Amino acid sequence: MSMIPPPASVGMHVSDVDTPALIIDLDALEANIARMQAAVSGTAARLRPHAKTHKSTTIAHMQVAAGAVGVCCQKVSEAEIMADGGIDDICISNEVIGKRKIDRLAALARRVTLSVCVDDPANVTDLADAAQRYRSDVGVLVEFNVGMNRCGVETPQEVVRLAEIIAGHRRLRFAGLQAYHGSAQHLRHYEDRASAISQAVAKVNEAKTYLTRSGLNCEVIAGAGTGTFEFELASGLYNEIQAGSYVFMDADYGLNENRDGRLFDRFENSLFVLATVMSRPVPDRAVVDAGLKSFSVDSGLPRLVGHPSAEYVRASDEHGRIAISGQSHIKLGDKVRLIPGHCDPTVNLYDWFVCIRNQVVEAVWPVSARGATV
Ligand SMILES: Cc1ncc(COP(=O)(O)O)c(C=O)c1O
Repeated sequence: MSMIPPPASVGMHVSDVDTPALIIDLDALEANIARMQAAVSGTAARLRPHAKTHKSTTIAHMQVAAGAVGVCCQKVSEAEIMADGGIDDICISNEVIGKRKIDRLAALARRVTLSVCVDDPANVTDLADAAQRYRSDVGVLVEFNVGMNRCGVETPQEVVRLAEIIAGHRRLRFAGLQAYHGSAQHLRHYEDRASAISQAVAKVNEAKTYLTRSGLNCEVIAGAGTGTFEFELASGLYNEIQAGSYVFMDADYGLNENRDGRLFDRFENSLFVLATVMSRPVPDRAVVDAGLKSFSVDSGLPRLVGHPSAEYVRASDEHGRIAISGQSHIKLGDKVRLIPGHCDPTVNLYDWFVCIRNQVVEAVWPVSARGATV
């Protein structure tokens, strides 16, 4: 099997990095990790950042060293890679369906503290059977739909029913509620995000009351993303914050607004794609070597940094078209930085992070769980 070599080596100047390359500004990454941890420390909640964003055991360790309790993963294969990399407390914030995956999950629970989400009684039985066979213990959260309309049961009564079924299995432990409101994260106005989360909090509160009345201890209430974590934190009800994108930020999150109407600036952009101008055919157009295979564009096109009169306007497989409206110094061979529209799926397109400080490559890290979508 041939392995794609890293596009840079330590000590190189950023202008010598081969492109397209996924680059991390280390000062910004470290500041983001510290800022989110500072927001959570001192409250009753714990930070369990989502590793689906960075897929990097190195960054996961930086988050744990800063005070995170462990990480969330979305897939069993992602969790296996985090565990192999030494992360020992993992929540799979997702449902895991199918014998092969569930067997792997039960095996993994022998090596790390592991929890998973459910929204169906048959899935609980399958998890319990596997945990029994592998003699492992699995924490189980009931996923509750608090407005996102993805997975999750709808009513407090269903929450209690599932929690009772979980609690009835010797190798499973009812751990609490998974109550992530994904569709609130990118509501542009602060008040709209606040209002969506206040409705989610009311639902969670009701479910917790039902659980308490039924004698079930709801230890964990997990959820929150980069767009809304301050509201879940302020609720005093959510006690595990699973934000992910804050480590990198992206162009889509950059369009959210703060309370004062200014653009969301709590975290810095630390993730960029470095691209090279490969053609400059006419005055109002430049073409870079990064297109659809270098960015995920589901949440919008990448944003060009440092060239106010130029804009990334179209992506094809291996090309990105830059429209130039006024005077621009962009010339053939220039390296430009682009902020991806959506950080998570962009990261999954790369094998390596090239980590930069003061314009010099300080480290090259593998995207450890790249392609771990099983
Ligand atoms: C279940 C779950 N929790 C947390 C997150 C993290 O959200 P964000 O990356 O917006 O901070 C996600 C992101 O999709 C998610 O699906």
